[in-house]
Amino acid sequence: MADEQPQAGEPGTVAVTADAKPSKATYVSERAEQARLRITDLGVTYVGHDGRETEAVREVTLDIADKPNVGEIVVFLGPSGCGKSTILKAVAGLLAPTRGEILIDGVPVTGVGRDRGMVFQAYTSFGWLTVRQNVEYGLRLQGLDAKERATRSKKYLEAVGLADFADRYPKDLSGGMKQRVAIARTLINKPKLVLMDEPFGALDPQTRWGMQSLLLDVSRDEDNTILFVTHDVSEAVYLADSIYVMAPRPTKILHRVDVPFFQNRDMALKSSKEFRGVEQKLLDFLYAPAS
Ligand SMILES: Nc1ncnc2c1ncn2[C@@H]1O[C@H](COP(=O)(O)OP(=O)(O)OP(=O)(O)O)[C@@H](O)[C@H]1O
Ligand SMILES: [Mg+2]
Repeated sequence: MADEQPQAGEPGTVAVTADAKPSKATYVSERAEQARLRITDLGVTYVGHDGRETEAVREVTLDIADKPNVGEIVVFLGPSGCGKSTILKAVAGLLAPTRGEILIDGVPVTGVGRDRGMVFQAYTSFGWLTVRQNVEYGLRLQGLDAKERATRSKKYLEAVGLADFADRYPKDLSGGMKQRVAIARTLINKPKLVLMDEPFGALDPQTRWGMQSLLLDVSRDEDNTILFVTHDVSEAVYLADSIYVMAPRPTKILHRVDVPFFQNRDMALKSSKEFRGVEQKLLDFLYAPAS
């Protein structure tokens, strides 16, 4: 009945159209037959040198199914300090969860692996390598010869707008340019799971739109899954197939918002009524979170 429906701001799993209402009272993960990524009851508590505990993540459970022959972008949206980077680091295998399990294609994560690539929130270029050498780093580890590396790196350097800086060192670059090196260095390896932690935060709007288009192209052309953290509601709606709205620390999933339309995502879309409607829903969820 209508008056039993949760209102915006209450937890729910909801396929959002401009007028959609949340359909369930709590977020419940739909379990996939074979999940690309399965996170079950994830909990992370940091213990400081002085023994003080910070519980960052509590009870995060989600499945991302492996859609055949098409990429997928899943966005985490949530307040600063809630635990988004912590979840990404756990999936990357960079920290061991306190509780719970993470499976990639059914295999438990026990450490880092080439099936995953991460773009960190902080800039992480290797200062002693040129831009081109940074971008080619993973290909070199794979044993590709110089000619093949050069062909591939040229494509990615052009895609991120750094072809003219290929032979410079990171110290000569701005923060946003360094971040684009990290993006190219990750995407060139074509990992099946791409973890991106606020990758476009330091970019001006125009460059940011270019990077968003690049990511949509990558997602269309490659059968990968991109986990993407952002604070930018518009960016979330533009990029995502689905968006998880996260609670403040210790974080858990408050809502999953599926973005079922927008087959043609061009710039005009961002000013459309439908797009604005989804943005508004997300803002309602973010700023009136249920306890
Ligand atoms: N290495 C650490 N040791 C102790 N506490 C930590 C550590 N890393 C993160 N935390 C704490 O865990 C909580 C979640 O941090 P996290 O970096 O995951 O948040 P976030 O959602 O990514 O925030 P932001 O949007 O600001 O990047 C914070 O309270 C933070 O202080
Ligand atoms: Mg973070």
